[in-house]
Amino acid sequence: MTNIKEGDKAIIMHDSGNSYLIDIELRTFHSQYGAFQLKDIIGKSYGKRYKTTTGNEFLVLVPDFRDLLSKSLKRGPQIIHPKDVGMITTFCGIGKTTKVLEAGCGSAFLTSHLGNIAKSVVSWEKNEKHYKIGTENIRRMGLNNVEVKAGDIKEEQGTDFDVIILDMPLPQDTIKKITKNLKVGGRIAVYSPCIEQSTAAINMLDSKGFINIVFRECLIRDWENEKCIRPKTAMLGHTGFLVFARYIKKENKKDIE
Ligand SMILES: C[S@@+](CC[C@H](N)C(=O)[O-])C[C@H]1O[C@@H](n2cnc3c(N)ncnc32)[C@H](O)[C@@H]1O
Repeated sequence: MTNIKEGDKAIIMHDSGNSYLIDIELRTFHSQYGAFQLKDIIGKSYGKRYKTTTGNEFLVLVPDFRDLLSKSLKRGPQIIHPKDVGMITTFCGIGKTTKVLEAGCGSAFLTSHLGNIAKSVVSWEKNEKHYKIGTENIRRMGLNNVEVKAGDIKEEQGTDFDVIILDMPLPQDTIKKITKNLKVGGRIAVYSPCIEQSTAAINMLDSKGFINIVFRECLIRDWENEKCIRPKTAMLGHTGFLVFARYIKKENKKDIE
């Protein structure tokens, strides 16, 4: 492993699990657990422990994608929760050959995950303020395969996308316009916080040549191992509903029905 140099990034992790993403510079690192000189770690490898002025210890780690995303993203509109990102990427079969079309970019949390695993991503954002946040976040994540476009996704002219993902109001209007941009056999995911949006999306998908329409929600329950092993009392409440479907074209659908 290469040694740490000035300008690198590092995760400084306390035994409590609390961690900080920092740029390695010639300065003192301060925290509630005490301070230490960052020059002491320059030239050393990641994975070592360092003592602070108050006797606490920190482990210095290489930041991974999750560290960078959770600690460096500028927050704007509501992001898609990681559990739902996992559902979207898995059920749409997104991988290194997939061309994705997406809207709205918003805070680019989902967009960043897509950029991390897909071949290419075109993400539309019609709100000027959100566009600035989204493009800045994609820059911070260093994702060169992501193009953020300012405007309405309905203006997209590109075709042969493998996957379309929508996280925006009135998805049915967009589905109506952009189905032509999806290749036959391609997939769509529609994320909606409200059931009315999901049902409107389902009806439109049904009329536009989509099959395998699946409507689901993902609930996640954390467990604890304290006095005994049991599920935690509090659970994450509602995030959103997900609709998945596959595009086969209206003509082909008639043959199947
Ligand atoms: C909830 S945010 C998306 C958050 C994003 N998925 C994330 O994880 O960070 C919804 C965004 O869709 C944008 N939007 C709404 N309608 C749109 C349209 N027709 N074309 C492009 N963007 C749109 C809104 O401006 C807003 O920023």
